[in-house]
Amino acid sequence: SHVLVLAGGLSHERDVSLRSGRRVAEALGRAGCEAQVRDVDSGLLETLRSQAPDVVWPVLHGATGEDGALRDVLETLGVRYVGARPASCRLTWDKPVAKALVEQAGVATPAGVALSHATFRELGSTGVLDAVVGSLGLPLAVKPARGGSALGLTIVRSAAELPSAMVAAYAYGDIALIERYVSGTEVAVSIVEDHDGLPQALPAVEIVPDSGVYSYDARYTAGETEFFTPARLSPEASAAASEAALIVYAVLGHRHLSRVDLIVDESGKPWFLEANSSPGMTETSLLPMALEAAGLEAAATYAALVRRAQSD
Ligand code: DAL
Ligand code: MG
Repeated sequence: SHVLVLAGGLSHERDVSLRSGRRVAEALGRAGCEAQVRDVDSGLLETLRSQAPDVVWPVLHGATGEDGALRDVLETLGVRYVGARPASCRLTWDKPVAKALVEQAGVATPAGVALSHATFRELGSTGVLDAVVGSLGLPLAVKPARGGSALGLTIVRSAAELPSAMVAAYAYGDIALIERYVSGTEVAVSIVEDHDGLPQALPAVEIVPDSGVYSYDARYTAGETEFFTPARLSPEASAAASEAALIVYAVLGHRHLSRVDLIVDESGKPWFLEANSSPGMTETSLLPMALEAAGLEAAATYAALVRRAQSD
């Protein structure tokens, strides 16, 4: 089948997306699909009309890619595509919203506070940050409420570091999320649907960045992070992580493929950090690593997802 892989776009994760898109297209090519990568720009509608692909695979990260906007367009045009539907993307992309939904479903997530830039400007000097530190404790993780690839993320270890961490997060959007930092084993559980459309959790990948923080550079520079697949977890903790990831997948309404990022604490309890409706597919990304660990071939797996998209 003819698959149009959409990548790039104008988000902060443009370069990552182009790398992801190329990998997906190469793998689909190996599986005998006719796959082309197209950078998303204002000519998108024309491209969709002239190419009339059987399936679109939006491998876009960040705003317009993961926030559901592009998929709204695909839905409107009646184009079949791989991945979650627009509403699901929107919920997932908004971390405070996703955390609230996931928590209601019984999966723990670090306590957090979302603070708008306007509030921060107005109340930042009145002790509001001290109150946040007072209630959440230290250390904290500060990140844009909507973002990806750890851009704008700071681990705050002393109260004095908090204001600049907030400013760094606001560089990526109007809302910052301040979360209690849960220490433990950082893992990513990737999920792909099997031939019957049932979501299957792949082996958890454990992430151990050299710098201690899984930053943008630690994500996309080979050798900057050590990975353990499967993660070095007890069988019980590993099962709990998979179960939590599948609950997240269901609650957020994901489809075809997804990745759920968790911290497993010392007691073996998984804490939800965030989910990705358009997970990274680059050569250093976690979902491709998990496929390999599961003994699944990327080419065959991606081609099966395309077939699912065609029939869904
Ligand atoms: N946002 C990046 C692409 C990821 O989560 O893999
Ligand atoms: Mg993400």
